[in-house]
Amino acid sequence: MSNFEFYTPTHVYFGRDTQRQVGDLVRAQGCKKVLVHFGGQSARRSGLLDQIEASLDAAGVAHVQLGGVVPNPHLSLVYQGIDLCKKEGVDFILAVGGGSVIDSAKAIGYGLCMDGDVWDLYDHTRKAEGCTPIGVVLTIAASGSEMSNSSVITKEEGGIKRGYNDEICRPKFAIMNPELTMTLPDYQTACGCTDILMHTMERYFTQGDSLEITDSIAEGLLRTVMAQAVILRDDPKNYDARAEVMWAGSLSHNGLTGCGIQASDFSSHALEHEIGGVYDVAHGAGLAAIWGSWARYVCDSCKDRFYQFAVNVMEATPSDDIDTVIHTGIEKLEAFFRSIHMPTSLKELGIAPSDAILREMAS
Ligand code: NZQ
Ligand code: ZN
Repeated sequence: MSNFEFYTPTHVYFGRDTQRQVGDLVRAQGCKKVLVHFGGQSARRSGLLDQIEASLDAAGVAHVQLGGVVPNPHLSLVYQGIDLCKKEGVDFILAVGGGSVIDSAKAIGYGLCMDGDVWDLYDHTRKAEGCTPIGVVLTIAASGSEMSNSSVITKEEGGIKRGYNDEICRPKFAIMNPELTMTLPDYQTACGCTDILMHTMERYFTQGDSLEITDSIAEGLLRTVMAQAVILRDDPKNYDARAEVMWAGSLSHNGLTGCGIQASDFSSHALEHEIGGVYDVAHGAGLAAIWGSWARYVCDSCKDRFYQFAVNVMEATPSDDIDTVIHTGIEKLEAFFRSIHMPTSLKELGIAPSDAILREMAS
């Protein structure tokens, strides 16, 4: 087992009605004014925003709003958020939404603690000097951003989607009520389940020694999310399935499933980020479209892991014919993606990049 650090400072409040505590939780942070940051329509339509503002008012917490975060969140709104927070004296950011809103909040938080252009962080020419503290009310189980050290932003000019990782952006608290995810379109639920699987697999497919404890956690998480995704496909209001997936989403990307591994891969994510920047596809669907090709490209250099995955996760029958077992495992995961209406190729994703665009994204 390789040496590792494990740091998860986020205080989790999980379960029914937990969003009602938000006012008290924000007040306990000792801030003067909070930015309530959210996406397009869903949080307003469901009444969640009204509940949150009522809770903040009841706790005597001053607040301002900035909505309009889009999936593959835009840099221009981050700039707008930084200006607004400076003008209003905001010292805490409450992200109400999914990965896009949380990542936009993290970017605003970084921008408030530095001079100059926050994009320099995402361009990897500078390091963050600080991050205004962030709290989360999660409405979609997917990105794991509610506990992760990561933030992914798209610069509209040029369609450039880039991530920046730093421990200082990990949220102070995350409120996770699985009921809040019941208004999700089925497609977004499936995209979320796919992303959760991918965060686990990007760490699982690694070279190096076997890791019984980390592998067992990862394999259990993968089996659980696949089973619950099928339940949610047929019964989207199933609370227990929503809850399993929501908790899995956080565990898949807070570092737990990577403890002791030699190195993580994250190539599928890097490829998807290029595609998401140019074609604005849903992140989970982009990952599903790429994974099978990626797996077939690399599996010969990582046979032990792919065999273990096929048998322990995809229930392929063990055999001395290693290659057949490996490819059965890959095919079974693709069949699972199709069963929850996820694409398994760029064509099924609905895009047809020219050779020139493929080369540009690759470079
Ligand atoms: O904008 P609204 O109206 O809220 O609609 C959103 C959006 O259209 C909708 N939605 C969210 N909660 C809902 C809901 N609709 C109905 N009911 C609800 N309860 O879902 C759509 C997708 O939301 P988004 O936040 O984009 O989804 P997700 O959480 O999958 O986040 C995707 C972004 O996170 C990045 C991705 O690259 C992508 O930009 N990632 C961030 C990571 C991180 N920070 O650690 C890691 C990930 O690997 C990922 O790269
Ligand atoms: Zn992801």
